[in-house]
Amino acid sequence: MIKPIGTDELQPLFVYDTDAHEALSHEAESLPSVIISSQAAGNAVQMGAGYFSPLKGFMNVADAMGAAEKMTLTDGSFFPVPVMCLLENTDAIGDAKRIALRDPNVEGNPVLAVMDVETIEEVTDEQMATMTDKVYRTDDAEHPGVAAFNNQGRMAVSGPIQVLNFSYFQSEFPDTFRTAVEIRNEIQERGWKKVVAFQTRNPMHLAHEELCHMAMDRLGCDGLVIHMLLGKLKKGDIPAPVRDAAIRKMVELYFPPNSAMVTGYGFDMLYAGPREAVLHAYFRQNMGATHFIVGRDHAGVGDYYGAFDAQSVFDEVPAGAMEIEIFKADHTAWSKKLNKVVMMREAPDHVKEDFILLSGTKVREMLGNGMAPPKEFSRPEVAQILIDYYSKL
Ligand code: ADX
Repeated sequence: MIKPIGTDELQPLFVYDTDAHEALSHEAESLPSVIISSQAAGNAVQMGAGYFSPLKGFMNVADAMGAAEKMTLTDGSFFPVPVMCLLENTDAIGDAKRIALRDPNVEGNPVLAVMDVETIEEVTDEQMATMTDKVYRTDDAEHPGVAAFNNQGRMAVSGPIQVLNFSYFQSEFPDTFRTAVEIRNEIQERGWKKVVAFQTRNPMHLAHEELCHMAMDRLGCDGLVIHMLLGKLKKGDIPAPVRDAAIRKMVELYFPPNSAMVTGYGFDMLYAGPREAVLHAYFRQNMGATHFIVGRDHAGVGDYYGAFDAQSVFDEVPAGAMEIEIFKADHTAWSKKLNKVVMMREAPDHVKEDFILLSGTKVREMLGNGMAPPKEFSRPEVAQILIDYYSKL
């Protein structure tokens, strides 16, 4: 099986031993505590679940700057984005060496993780600006990822963590949320050798379904892991439970039995386009995928990124840092001439009008009016789930 990044064994930071878990939960209640940002909580969940292995905890500023500027930490290891715990103020910490990190997204703010505090540093405006520019390639405060990153505090608390739970993801998405450990185990149990992962934050229309089929066929894969984001999204994106239901229906009806796993992970969307694509590939290797699909405008928003920047960015990844292979896909769409979904660059005799192309806005408008998009665009059963959702808004 493909090895995780940087080590032979995956290193999830969740405390699996029940006695140790109980003791830590008990200890946590008496520690000084802080309520962390939603972004930091997502980072903790990802580290707990093994997706960010072999990170041991939250980065200090030097490591965060290294990740942003060169995808390389001070010890020379690879990580594509800063993983920070940024707080408004650290008064509650004082000079404590061990603190409890509380979950902002669960009622009552239960303890999510315990941290051994190594450093508390104030991040300068210049450092925030550099990280924003490198990760998001824009400083526009209208960009949802830029806004979320910069709306956290400026005090960076770093140090190793031990994770006690998976926030709301396990309770709200019991059938879909999976740790990297669980996905690795399931891949092994199924006996899959070549496994392609598909990232999504949207319901899957025919072009996405066919993109997955194309990747599986061309790569000769035994299995597909559809791995959806379950964390926070910008306004207007379809909520995870609706998307989950739509994807499950598609897999049930249009994929051969046992060829696709429908799973998800607990992290807020960064909308960081290219840099997020590298992060996506990183944690798909950790969950055991050998290949990862990156198509058009991967993890993009608005027109901040070129349609294929999230493919060319892999040229900037330090050599040998990742083993997972990227399936770089062109824009897929239904060809009226060929009566099937194709990659547009593979139909050089076509003009734009030969394809069925609908903008996201147009599709939302149709679904909102109770109209299913044409069957060349959406499976009717998938469209119905989305129409039901829009009718209740
Ligand atoms: S993402 O933000 O999670 O990347 P989305 O769910 O829309 O967004 O896309 C999931 C994956 O499908 C990404 O790799 C994206 O590039 C790819 N993709 C989406 N639509 C198309 C399309 N029409 N043609 C090619 N690739 C696409």
